[in-house]
Amino acid sequence: MAVRIDGKALAAKVKSQVAEEAGKLSRKPGLAVVLVGEDPASQVYVAGKERDCAECGIESFGYRLPAETSQEELLGLIRRLNEDSRVDGILVQLPLPGHLSEETVINAIAPDKDVDCFHPFNVGRMVIGAPAFVPCTPAGVIEMLDEYDIPIRGKRCVVLGRSNIVGKPMAALLTQRDGTVTICHSRTEDLARCTREADILVSAVGRPGLLTGDLVKEGAVVIDVAMNRDENGRLCGDADFASVEPRASYITPVPGGVGPMTRACLMRNILTAAGLHQA
Ligand code: GUN
Repeated sequence: MAVRIDGKALAAKVKSQVAEEAGKLSRKPGLAVVLVGEDPASQVYVAGKERDCAECGIESFGYRLPAETSQEELLGLIRRLNEDSRVDGILVQLPLPGHLSEETVINAIAPDKDVDCFHPFNVGRMVIGAPAFVPCTPAGVIEMLDEYDIPIRGKRCVVLGRSNIVGKPMAALLTQRDGTVTICHSRTEDLARCTREADILVSAVGRPGLLTGDLVKEGAVVIDVAMNRDENGRLCGDADFASVEPRASYITPVPGGVGPMTRACLMRNILTAAGLHQA
């Protein structure tokens, strides 16, 4: 039976380190949190991030905008936040309503305030191995592997999903740590053949029950990044836990696995940004 990786406990440790470091600064680090529209899941995520800020001694400035907000209005707000010296980091919660261009909005955030590590400048630095900020979810995954002394070097790593937020940066970080990485996606032929090779299998698709035990090699490490709701409205990942857990050596639960670590890494990025601005 797999060891369950306790993301919640590790996140608490990271956050207490951040709180200690934040306390040494001459002014509190600040995060602007921008939420456009009323997507219920986004409201929950944003509230969680604001709670984390409070726990870490980070000031948060919330901007709740109506779903009809125009691109110009949103870009105007970002320009003001770029200039605001109380604000070290800017987080625009995704997804945005369909009439807004996520790409244009991300590109408008000053790279030194891009605590999500979504701006092409920071993505480029991350890929060449000279990061200012780390992408929160993939960095949280690497930290969980390290905490449990799970080796990456030389291992077969398979990432399910090729999103800009998770799949692509996850593959980049695993490559940097000397993993041999395959990215699988909706067009992959013979998915099972790929996934059954994986020593480390990271699933970031967003489909409950996608990852069944027969896709997992005996003894593999399974990292479940997805946050789905099952038919009863309960949070679940991509893994069919009942069939995957007996085959895996380690597994992350949902909730209580990757999610808390994503948020903890965000707090660390805010501290990094504050360090840049207060130097
Ligand atoms: N939507 C889903 N995940 C994320 C994230 O990590 N950051 C932001 N800004 N939006 C998201």
